[in-house]
Amino acid sequence: MSNKLFEEIKLESGSILKNRIMMAPMTIQAAYFDGTVTQKMIDYYAHRSGEAGAIIVESSFVEDKGRGFAGALGNTKDSQVKELRKLASAIKEKGSKAILQIYHAGRMAAPEFNGGAAPISASPVAALRPDAVTPRQMMPVDIDNMIQCFTDATRRAIEAGFDGVEIHGANTYLIQQFFSPHSNRREDKWGGNLEARAKFPEAVMRAVQEEAKKQQAEQFIVGYRFSPEEIEEPGITFEDTMYLLNRLAKLKPDYFHISMGNWNRTSIRDKEDSQTLLKKYTEQQSEELAQIALIGVGGIGQRSDAEAALEAGYDLVAVGKAFLVEPNWVGKAAAGKEIKNFADINEQDLLHVPEPLWDVMDFMIRDVQADEEKYEYLKALQNVKITFNPGTYEASAEGHDGSDIPIKVTFSDTKIVAIELDKQEQTDAVATSVFKRLPEEIIDGQTLQVDIISGATVTSRSLIDGVADAVEKAGGNSDALRVRPKAAVQWS
Ligand SMILES: Cc1cc2nc3c(=O)[nH]c(=O)nc-3n(C[C@H](O)[C@H](O)[C@H](O)COP(=O)(O)O)c2cc1C
Repeated sequence: MSNKLFEEIKLESGSILKNRIMMAPMTIQAAYFDGTVTQKMIDYYAHRSGEAGAIIVESSFVEDKGRGFAGALGNTKDSQVKELRKLASAIKEKGSKAILQIYHAGRMAAPEFNGGAAPISASPVAALRPDAVTPRQMMPVDIDNMIQCFTDATRRAIEAGFDGVEIHGANTYLIQQFFSPHSNRREDKWGGNLEARAKFPEAVMRAVQEEAKKQQAEQFIVGYRFSPEEIEEPGITFEDTMYLLNRLAKLKPDYFHISMGNWNRTSIRDKEDSQTLLKKYTEQQSEELAQIALIGVGGIGQRSDAEAALEAGYDLVAVGKAFLVEPNWVGKAAAGKEIKNFADINEQDLLHVPEPLWDVMDFMIRDVQADEEKYEYLKALQNVKITFNPGTYEASAEGHDGSDIPIKVTFSDTKIVAIELDKQEQTDAVATSVFKRLPEEIIDGQTLQVDIISGATVTSRSLIDGVADAVEKAGGNSDALRVRPKAAVQWS
């Protein structure tokens, strides 16, 4: 195990993170209707703070019609600062730096979350997703106002005591929309070619940095999150992204944060290209960009994943979903412990997970007790001694046409000896195969755990159920036969 993960890092602004691990920004949908921080949010973040170098607080919308989700965190009015301050303090008091992500959803701001307002974007082009609303094109004055919204949001973050902001230029939101040739078809100074499309992200970064300077916020962290490519045609290519980053690097932000589902992934535009995007990044970065810390994210579950990411070239890692189910992710990693990747169904309160997030986490939740009981039950069934009252017993299965097919099953005191079917009516080839193959497999394996024949699922199941019925009539335990392992295939 290398110890680099737990080495401190000094960022461009002079701010020092005590280790290389950050909690990734994750929207938990637990804010008040107007975006104000709730106690639930404070509890959730406090519970995960302390050991990580920094906690990146979820995306906060900077303009009132820019929400991407119900329950999203807002950063639109000064009255929100008081509760934002409680949130920042809760994180910092535990010992982690607090960074607030700032964004506007642009054309992804669905009217139902924004008082029915039509979304806005660089150009009137709807996103490629079902029910996407065509946005209204922003006028030059709207663009100036939007930059001011990012400035004001930065000031509020500073007043609330955050150690920094992360400009959300990723995940298809407004800043990315300005950079994208899919959503930006403008022909004024904000669009038309690659250079012009990079102007809005650059203007936002400048405004944020200037505000930090104006507020005399010392060592204030300014990070930038980006999505490296888009699948749309036309869409952002990796080369476009490198142009943008090399340009933004001249402004010397504290970090760039590449938003991906897996830190080690390759291009989504060119599936034939096997070079990782990280490798491309290191090859195409300018000298200025090489000086700026790069955060990798996506699929980091164990300490070994984080170490592999640093080894591959990232300076920092961000951990997302694993932090939801293991709030002490950093402590566990430091102790070299295996980190669980699921939450127990009874742990919601213990993990301080607000209800809407718990719903989103559905795929990560297990009922551990029920799983254990099931396991014990299956184990017990597998140990049941199989016996029958010898004789021939009758049952029935359902034919493919819904007709009843009588079955006769003959048992010795420990075995299924014969299965006879009246299959005269079944002329269908697949059904015939069910009636020939399955009885053979049941008798050969002395088990009801046999493979269903595809194309004849219902008939297969009904035959197995019929034999199970006969087993019960013969005093046997059909459940035990259903879980009895299949005979191992003998390869000759
Ligand atoms: C519930 C949830 C909410 C998220 N919200 C945000 C967000 O507000 N801003 C953002 O940039 N990414 C967001 N993400 C993406 C994560 O930051 C991260 O990039 C992604 O989950 C991959 O990392 P992981 O595999 O460690 O989870 C969210 C992810 C999840 C699971």
